Amino acid sequence: MRKVKIILYGVGAVGNLIAKFLLKKEGIEIVGAIDIAKDKVGKDLGEVLGINKKLGIKVTANATALLSKVKADIAIHATSSFLKDTFPQITTIIKHGIKVISTCEELTYPYYTAPKLAKELDIRAKKYKTSVLGTGINPGFLMDTLVITLTTVCQKIEKIHAIRVMDAATRRVPFQKKIGAGLTVEEFKQKIRRKEITGHVGLEQSVAMIADALAWKLDKIIAESVEPVIASKTVRSRDIKVETGKVAGLRQEAKGIMKNKEVIVLDFQAYIGAEEESDAITIEGVPSIRQKIQPCVHGDIGTVAMVVNSIPKVIKAPHGLLTMKDLPIPSAAIEDMSKYISS
Ligand SMILES: NC(=O)c1ccc[n+]([C@@H]2O[C@H](COP(=O)([O-])OP(=O)(O)OC[C@H]3O[C@@H](n4cnc5c(N)ncnc54)[C@H](OP(=O)(O)O)[C@@H]3O)[C@@H](O)[C@H]2O)c1
Repeated sequence: MRKVKIILYGVGAVGNLIAKFLLKKEGIEIVGAIDIAKDKVGKDLGEVLGINKKLGIKVTANATALLSKVKADIAIHATSSFLKDTFPQITTIIKHGIKVISTCEELTYPYYTAPKLAKELDIRAKKYKTSVLGTGINPGFLMDTLVITLTTVCQKIEKIHAIRVMDAATRRVPFQKKIGAGLTVEEFKQKIRRKEITGHVGLEQSVAMIADALAWKLDKIIAESVEPVIASKTVRSRDIKVETGKVAGLRQEAKGIMKNKEVIVLDFQAYIGAEEESDAITIEGVPSIRQKIQPCVHGDIGTVAMVVNSIPKVIKAPHGLLTMKDLPIPSAAIEDMSKYISS
């Protein structure tokens, strides 16, 4: 059985975790690595991953040269959150007939916020007989694919409410900084104004994916402002101490409005000291559904799993721009990867 050949495009925090997981996985061969970061270019991938072992794969910033030279089935792409930034990277990959799985949040469901780029990507993917999927834990699963799946048992739906609460103390320090942990409220607001804190990207995409799955024609999607969560007592992670009154993290909501009613509400909260971590989905309908995962799914572990488990589905999928909504029921690919692509 042949191995699935993979190029890594972006070996930052998430790309690094994906690479390490792939190295342990049977039926996978990493055949190249692309990144523009100065501390990575020209180094052996093993060194970049910090695994004390040379892999004989040099990280290159020249995507076109590598893609022209190396035969690969899929590029695992993890560089940025918005399609306007990733579009040139992804179109460079698909020109070589290579499929793409990307963690770009906007790409998980780009039809609402970037419809022209989405259409163009679909056209180009079909032209080069390849496929592109944006996925991850959220967006990609917890607040969209899982919600959509749960609606399957409903005859009638009035309202959907999903809430993700994460204790940021258990996450990477860059993530804790990204959500403003330890800042004063004024510093937090300033960073929001300067777009140094962008909050969670993907809620609007998740709302749009759910609405389209249900054929709900929303009047609008409201992306609420990113709000600080203020510590009511001193809380800490291993590296950051948050005193009472300072920012422990953030909260943001997105709402789908139909006939003047909030029919979809997604509520994302990530802060140091969250006492009860959970992913909860409530569907008000016939029947009503209350589903809760406790503690919430770990973001990094879940993202790596979503990306890797999607490999066989994307290999077998039709050409074009794909979303999680278009693929078969998601499932784990825990055995040798070649078993899933040969069946
Ligand atoms: N959907 C989800 O559930 C999910 C989950 C986790 C992460 N994500 C998203 O996935 C993306 C990657 O996350 P991360 O934490 O790994 O970010 P990161 O640590 O910043 O890593 C990104 C890497 O890609 C490199 N890069 C940027 N632009 C590039 C380009 N044009 N060509 C080649 N390499 C390029 C970066 O280099 P520089 O440092 O020099 O820019 C960096 O080394 C982010 O947008 C993140 O928000 C989504």
